[in-house]
Amino acid sequence: MKPYYADDQVTLYHGDCLEITDWLAADVLVTDPPYGRAWRQGDLGPAHPRNAASLDGIANDADTTVRDRALHLWGSNRPAMSFGDLTLAPPAGVKLTAVYQKDNTCGLRGAIGGVRRDAEAIYFLGKGWGSGIGGRSSVFITSARVSSAAGIVARHGGHPHTKPGDVMEQLLELCPDGVVADPFAGSGSTLVAARNLGRKAIGVELEERYCELIAKRLDQMALDFGAMS
Ligand SMILES: C[S@@+](CC[C@H](N)C(=O)[O-])C[C@H]1O[C@@H](n2cnc3c(N)ncnc32)[C@H](O)[C@@H]1O
Repeated sequence: MKPYYADDQVTLYHGDCLEITDWLAADVLVTDPPYGRAWRQGDLGPAHPRNAASLDGIANDADTTVRDRALHLWGSNRPAMSFGDLTLAPPAGVKLTAVYQKDNTCGLRGAIGGVRRDAEAIYFLGKGWGSGIGGRSSVFITSARVSSAAGIVARHGGHPHTKPGDVMEQLLELCPDGVVADPFAGSGSTLVAARNLGRKAIGVELEERYCELIAKRLDQMALDFGAMS
């Protein structure tokens, strides 16, 4: 199948990752699948404008079926990291649950007992992670402002679940060498982080509007790099 976007490092396919399986040729999986909680952004008032994407929610987000099918295709013998909702069942075969901690503008509205929903799970799955005495915390903190109104969603033009580049780079730095796969590419944060770190990556994204967003981000990086060199 012809890629939607390709350069020396990143290849992106537009379509269903359960049908387009080129990503299975990668060496490590780092992905952020639909959470499985039928997410929609609430109305936060005029200071927090919603866009079409946040009103529509995320494709295949009714449950964790698509996540689990993609992880099954990847298999349990190779390294994988998958984000997930801490209130839902984890995928099969989790080796470690780490935490992505968002900034203090996040999760205010969904608070329970006054405690914000400002964290997500990062599941480490499969083999090839190494062992021994741990060197770092299992909590991954971002220095980016994540909340949808003023943060990275606005800057990147409209994916409601964009992950911050600093967290993606911290994760990729822990991964074994080789090509990175993200079959639920969204706005392309994994692909952008991989390129920043000089790694090759293969992505798949179901929605064309997000493929367009990813291609723009990657093209912009190439322009910025060209301007510097
Ligand atoms: C949680 S978002 C990923 C966000 C991404 N980590 C980022 O930083 O922008 C999940 C993405 O998976 C996509 N998706 C859902 N089902 C898919 C499928 N079967 N194949 C490929 N992409 C899919 C959705 O359109 C959505 O953009």
